[in-house]
Amino acid sequence: MMNSSDLQKKAAGEKAAELVKGGMIIGLGSGSTVYWFLKRLGELVNAGLKVKGVPSSLRTEGWAREFNIPLTDFSETQILDLAIDGADEVDPDFNLTKGGGGSLLREKIVDANAKKLIIIVDESKLVKQLGKFPLPVEIVPFGWELTSKRIAELGAIPQLRVKDGEVFVSNNGNYILDCQFERIPNPKELHKQLKQIIGVVETGLFVEMTDLVLVGSTGKVEALNRME
Ligand code: 5RP
Repeated sequence: MMNSSDLQKKAAGEKAAELVKGGMIIGLGSGSTVYWFLKRLGELVNAGLKVKGVPSSLRTEGWAREFNIPLTDFSETQILDLAIDGADEVDPDFNLTKGGGGSLLREKIVDANAKKLIIIVDESKLVKQLGKFPLPVEIVPFGWELTSKRIAELGAIPQLRVKDGEVFVSNNGNYILDCQFERIPNPKELHKQLKQIIGVVETGLFVEMTDLVLVGSTGKVEALNRME
């Protein structure tokens, strides 16, 4: 039985598939909301829609193959027509926290190289200010303890991500620190500060990248456009 958050994710994901046009090369995000997008996109492909996708994680790649979505990569294409991705938090300026699933680096490479980025979420992801969700930061394993200390000096409590009793390793062979900041009033500045720390590969702050947010809510999907 699906709960209301799952139903909202499904509605947002399926709506996003309607925005895909024949001939497009699509960045395929990661996460449980994207799953619904991929499932619906696969149905459209099986009905004749011609598209290709660039997956942002091994999990997404597996789903795309399962749903029969043709894949490509950056050796074949440089610019994507559209990327569809999920998020852990979305603020009123469309700044995002991402990386709850650990795919933030590949997601950022994919999303940053798309002409348009559409984010699909359930209502719970909309926040007034980023920071309640611990910020995922991808770091090099070597010397991770030192990188963690430097991040803590910025006011965070970093926690090394562990899954099933083992240190979580990203698709790129890196570690993730989930960094609890009291609040993140200036995501752009914090992203810059974090990127200056040696050992930090990428942050889960996606700033000024999103064009449209599709929010699934009970019985409908609301489209939020960015106010310029
Ligand atoms: C993975 C992500 C996901 O997009 C984010 O965690 C949202 O996931 P879900 O749709 O399952 O709530 O950034 O790294």
